[in-house]
Amino acid sequence: MDNQEIIDKLTKVCICKGVSKQTIKKAISEGADTVEKVWSMTNTGNGSCKGKRCGEKIQLILDNWEEEK
Ligand code: FES
Repeated sequence: MDNQEIIDKLTKVCICKGVSKQTIKKAISEGADTVEKVWSMTNTGNGSCKGKRCGEKIQLILDNWEEEK
């Protein structure tokens, strides 16, 4: 496991559901190419903020996917 993987594991993207960046990136690498698809694949976006907080972060990861993956 490299440093980036450790950081991704510790970084929570969906705070409501406690889902890490690692899980979000795995969903994107498995084909989720929109925020909605990432939400449904990772069971996020449906917490108390209704995706307000994690939606933007997921979009940013999608927008920068070439550097993120
Ligand atoms: S942070 Fe993801 S639903 Fe609130």
